Amino acid sequence: MTETIFKPGLEGVIAGETAIAAVEQQSLCYRGYNIADLANNTTFEEVAHLLLYGDLPNAQQLSMFNESLAQFRHLPDAVIDTLRKIPTDVNMMDVLRTGVSMAGHFDPVKGESVDDLRRRAMWLMATCAGIVAARYRLINQKDTVDPLPGLNHSEQILYQCLGEKPSPTAARLLDLTLILYAEHEYNASTFATRIVASTMSDMVSGVVTGIGTLKGPLHGGANEAAMEMLSQFTTPEQADAWIHERFAKKEKVMGFGHRVYKNGDHRAHILEAELRKLAEEKGQQKWMAIYDAIKKPMVEEKKIFPNVDYPCGLTYYLLDLPIDMYTPLFVCSRVTGWAAHFIEQATHNRLIRPLSKYIGEPSRPVAPIAER
Ligand SMILES: CC(C)(COP(=O)(O)OP(=O)(O)OC[C@H]1O[C@@H](n2cnc3c(N)ncnc32)[C@H](O)[C@@H]1OP(=O)(O)O)[C@@H](O)C(=O)NCCC(=O)NCCS
Repeated sequence: MTETIFKPGLEGVIAGETAIAAVEQQSLCYRGYNIADLANNTTFEEVAHLLLYGDLPNAQQLSMFNESLAQFRHLPDAVIDTLRKIPTDVNMMDVLRTGVSMAGHFDPVKGESVDDLRRRAMWLMATCAGIVAARYRLINQKDTVDPLPGLNHSEQILYQCLGEKPSPTAARLLDLTLILYAEHEYNASTFATRIVASTMSDMVSGVVTGIGTLKGPLHGGANEAAMEMLSQFTTPEQADAWIHERFAKKEKVMGFGHRVYKNGDHRAHILEAELRKLAEEKGQQKWMAIYDAIKKPMVEEKKIFPNVDYPCGLTYYLLDLPIDMYTPLFVCSRVTGWAAHFIEQATHNRLIRPLSKYIGEPSRPVAPIAER
């Protein structure tokens, strides 16, 4: 008989194998490359290629990858019409979930070979970015913007949102966040996506599931929740008073803590250094003072460190992006990790079906309805 173990939240349980990423206390690697090395020396498209194809592209492979993305950028009219029909106050993650599901009916990639799945992943990358940008335009009562040939993925997202070419700083920082967010082994949304793959369902269903899972504030929704928290303060003193009240009430602070990293999140260190430069460049050091007023007591008094969502929320804020777009931008990146895991699961499949520990009523007979 197979030995059974019970770990609430599957904490510490190895639920499968992967060759895509290794999340460790000392390092984070995508397919063997350290995240800091990737952040300093690659673009998001190169990282997406790495995740989907197993290695970094050479110049010719990168150019073919970019051509495929460009070919997939136009959203079907039916998808734009659907986005138009959704009330303007609906959360953008919900809109994105619906948009991807709708777009799935127009999937231009046919077939289920590994190469078809990789191409479908590229189509989903382009589609998520297109939906986020189109929705941003529509809720601002503006026409959608056609993709502009020659822009990279980050520039394209910002261009299609804002209707003008982004500054090099904005494009580079968005690109950095996309690199940092792309993959993180068996996190909740990726595991959910792998479960979908394990039933031999389709990649669009996997991505829709990933979106629904990422939305929660204990997962990707933390970048929005962290910025909502910071935006209530106008001084570091207010933030300091608030955090100590929070400690007294034993309530969680969004953007801090991690199931795996207990001594800090490598991605947060990388992004925070860039965020400090951005705040200085924009003359917004006031925000860093508020940021530090929350961080210092969390680290010094609670020994709980920022995760990547903490600096990411403020980075996007200083780039003037609306708060409800932060988790959708996370999707624009993580869709690559989900797709890579979908392919890995589908090609080495065993149905994911754990057990549960029953804690309900003991066995009992059904009483006739008149006696209940
Ligand atoms: C991510 C998270 C769910 C991982 O948590 P976990 O592995 O389940 O750890 P636990 O929730 O069991 O936390 C262990 C202890 O640290 C505390 N803790 C963890 N994260 C905390 C946070 N963000 N704020 C305050 N306390 C926190 C818990 O309250 C708990 O304290 P206790 O032992 O006194 O009860 C958790 O850190 C969290 O909720 N963070 C906020 C949401 C967030 O930023 N999510 C994005 C993750 S990348």
